[in-house]
Amino acid sequence: MAPTWNFARPHNEGGATTQAHVDFARDTYEREIGREGFFGAASHVYHRNPPNAWSSIEGAAKPRAFNPASTATPAASPWDAQPLMHNAHVRVRYWRAEGSMDHLVRNGDGDELVFIHQGAGSLFCDFGHLPFESGDYLVLPRGTMWRIESDGPVEALLVESTNASYRLPDRGMLGRHALFDPGVLARPELDGAFRDQRKAGPWQVRVKRRNAQTVVTFPFNPLDAVSWKGDLYPVRLNVRDFRPVTSHRVHLPPSAHTTFLSDRFVICTLAPRPMESEPGAMKLPFFHSNDDYDEVVFYHRGRLRGRSAIVGEGTMTFHPSGVVHGPHPEALPHMFEHPLKMLESYSVMIDTRDALEIADLPAGTEIAGYAESWTGSIAVAPDAQTVP
Ligand SMILES: [Fe+2]
Repeated sequence: MAPTWNFARPHNEGGATTQAHVDFARDTYEREIGREGFFGAASHVYHRNPPNAWSSIEGAAKPRAFNPASTATPAASPWDAQPLMHNAHVRVRYWRAEGSMDHLVRNGDGDELVFIHQGAGSLFCDFGHLPFESGDYLVLPRGTMWRIESDGPVEALLVESTNASYRLPDRGMLGRHALFDPGVLARPELDGAFRDQRKAGPWQVRVKRRNAQTVVTFPFNPLDAVSWKGDLYPVRLNVRDFRPVTSHRVHLPPSAHTTFLSDRFVICTLAPRPMESEPGAMKLPFFHSNDDYDEVVFYHRGRLRGRSAIVGEGTMTFHPSGVVHGPHPEALPHMFEHPLKMLESYSVMIDTRDALEIADLPAGTEIAGYAESWTGSIAVAPDAQTVP
C-alpha cells in the first residue's frame, strides 16, 4: 500500500518557531513532549522559565547520579559484579576485575554487552581470542562461554539484553556505512594465544540462568574449538570507530547516535563532534521528559558539557521518564553561543522503554545533590524573581 500523505503542517499556537531547535525566542526555553523516543508525534513548548528550575523535587522519578567505580568491590566473576539497575529487559552492572578470571562464564539469560571503561586484556571464548582495550564494546551472544585475561585491573559496564538479541540499527537514508562501517567490527580468532591456553582441567563454567548460578566443572578446558562457521559470534567495536552524524544547522537528538538495538532498549554512543555552527541553531540538548523512556548515561572519557562539577569519568546519571531533563544551569547561558567548537567527551547512553529499578547500592555510590543542582536555573527564571 502507498504511504499515507504526511505533509500535514503541525499546529502552531502563539507564533512558535516553525523549525524545532532553531530560531526560537532567546528569552524562552524549548521543551519537547514526544512519543516513541524521538520518532513519534511531538510538540515543542516554549517556556518563559527553564522547565526544570525546580525549588525542590522528591519522589521515585527524581533524577539521580552514581559513581559506581568509587564503591565497586573487586569481583573475580562478572556474575558477582555490583548490580546497578534492571527491568525485565535489561540488567546493568558495574564490574571491577582485579586481573584474569580463573573460570569461564556463560550467560543463559541474554546477550551481554561488556563496555570496557578501564584496562585492557584478552577475551577468550568459544570462538577464539579477541584482545580488548578501554572504550571497547564487546557484544557476547547469549550462551557464549568466555573469560578474560588481564595483567591489571579491568573495569566494565555490563549491560545484559535479557531474553533478546542485540543487533545493529538500520542506517536508513544515511547508508550502510554511516556511524561505523561494519568492516570495523572485530571478531575472535582461533590464533596461537587461543591454542596456548591451559588445556588440563579442572575448569569451571559458571552458568547464569534466571539470575542464579549453576556451576559446571570439566576435567579439561572446554574452550577447545578447532574450527567454527556461522553468522553468530561476538564482535568488538571501539568508541573511536564510531563516527557520529551531525548537522551544523540543527541539534540532532541522541537517537542519531544509536549504536546497538535490543527489543526494549537502545544503546547510543555520544562521541566527540563539532558543535552546531548556524547562529540560530541551539547548541545544547533541548529540554525533554523523554516521555516513553528512562534515560541512563555512563560518562566514559573527556570533558563533559555542563554538569562537570558533579559528574565525571566513570559516573552515571539516571533520568526517569516523566520529569523534564535538559541543560544544566552552568550550560544555560550557552544556549545559542557556545565557547566550544567541538565536544570532546565519550558517553554511553542506555534508553529503556520500561521503567528501571535501582539496586540497593553500597553507601557512597550515589552522588548527593544531583537533582537539587538544577535549582541554580532559578536565577534565570524571570517569574521566580517577581515578588508576589
Ligand atoms: Fe534525554
